[in-house]
Amino acid sequence: MTCFGLCLGGKASPRHNHVVEIDEEISTIENARVYSYRELRAATEDFCPVNKIGKGGFGSVYKGRLRDGKMAAIKVLSVESKQGVKEFLTEIKVISNIEHENLVKLYGCCAEGDHRILVYNYLENNSLSQTLLGGAHSSLQFSWITRTKICIGVARGLAFLHEEVQPYIVHRDIKASNILLDKDLTPKISDFGLAKLIPADLTHVSTRVAGTLGYLAPEYAMRGQLTRKADVYSFGILLLEIVSGRCNTNKRLPIEEQYLLERAWRLFKKGELIQLVDALLGDDFDVVDACKFLKVSLLCTQVMPKSRPSMSTVVKLLTGEMQVNDEEISEPGMLSDLVSLRNQKNTSSDTLSAGSGKQVDSSSSANTTATHGTMTFTTIDDRKS
Ligand SMILES: Nc1ncnc2c1ncn2[C@@H]1O[C@H](COP(=O)(O)OP(=O)(O)O)[C@@H](O)[C@H]1O
Ligand SMILES: [Mg+2]
Repeated sequence: MTCFGLCLGGKASPRHNHVVEIDEEISTIENARVYSYRELRAATEDFCPVNKIGKGGFGSVYKGRLRDGKMAAIKVLSVESKQGVKEFLTEIKVISNIEHENLVKLYGCCAEGDHRILVYNYLENNSLSQTLLGGAHSSLQFSWITRTKICIGVARGLAFLHEEVQPYIVHRDIKASNILLDKDLTPKISDFGLAKLIPADLTHVSTRVAGTLGYLAPEYAMRGQLTRKADVYSFGILLLEIVSGRCNTNKRLPIEEQYLLERAWRLFKKGELIQLVDALLGDDFDVVDACKFLKVSLLCTQVMPKSRPSMSTVVKLLTGEMQVNDEEISEPGMLSDLVSLRNQKNTSSDTLSAGSGKQVDSSSSANTTATHGTMTFTTIDDRKS
């Protein structure tokens, strides 16, 4: 057996070459297993394309059955990141120690040779982007109650990462495809902690920025200024998507409806927010609650990071433990402001600062202003509608 359980100080199995290399680190991983490449290859039938369930900024994801019979999502990280085994395992250790009902569980990893693979709990109901926002492809029904449960669950998971994990984790990539659903439609945030596994080289960053443009906080997109409040912004966009049942950007709609946040702000000013609620819900929703959720999304997307609530406050606002104060809602940081910049024909990718990983304390971001600086997007990959 080339893989071995690490839980609770299990005894080491016979050593193989690769095992010797990582032996030192392994002994301190408590909640994860180290899988052999061989086992993962068998689980995915040699990484057969039929078993591929997705591809994202970090690499490809395969569905596979592990030797113990459990189904897993096996994420093969892109090979450009030749992170050392030690550094890789250090990050894995951090991620695998984090457990919460609303976070995807990491089973373990593989770090043989150049391979860097993560093994996660497989979630039956895929992601919000493929179900709720995926058009006719999904047979799942998202009632109002289900949607509220999903919003509050995601908020709780994020509040946990931001306020209970030490040191705190900024997710950096909150979006519908990173919210997975288990068989009961309980939401699980995936990909937390991953940013550290792949150095934020520019190519990688520009791909990711392009794919998830609509979720980016202005200060992060323009200056790479990363705080927990950048996640709060992305959460605000996600909240709008869940309530309205549509993607944040849809180029097939009339121009004035293409950007969800822009539309939300316009409707808020007219006192007609309720129009944004997904028509598929019919009468199956609580008007007061739906308006409240939409207002929270406007609070989360305020242009100034300091005006956005913390995630624990978001949880309280959503559950009704705290009241939303309309006076605190001013114009959000608009996606359309960013998009218009792509027409400024400076295509040099090194002017893109987003995701450079410059992490600053949230308090020091208080002076962030919405100057548009030199941001340029080399590719804009609009999300599917
Ligand atoms: N644990 C998992 N269970 C089920 N499906 C998953 C899991 N992890 C990832 N996926 C699927 O694989 C897709 C690609 O994942 P990922 O590489 O994280 O890219 P992205 O988050 O950019 O979509 C996801 O959108 C989801 O559909
Ligand atoms: Mg993902």
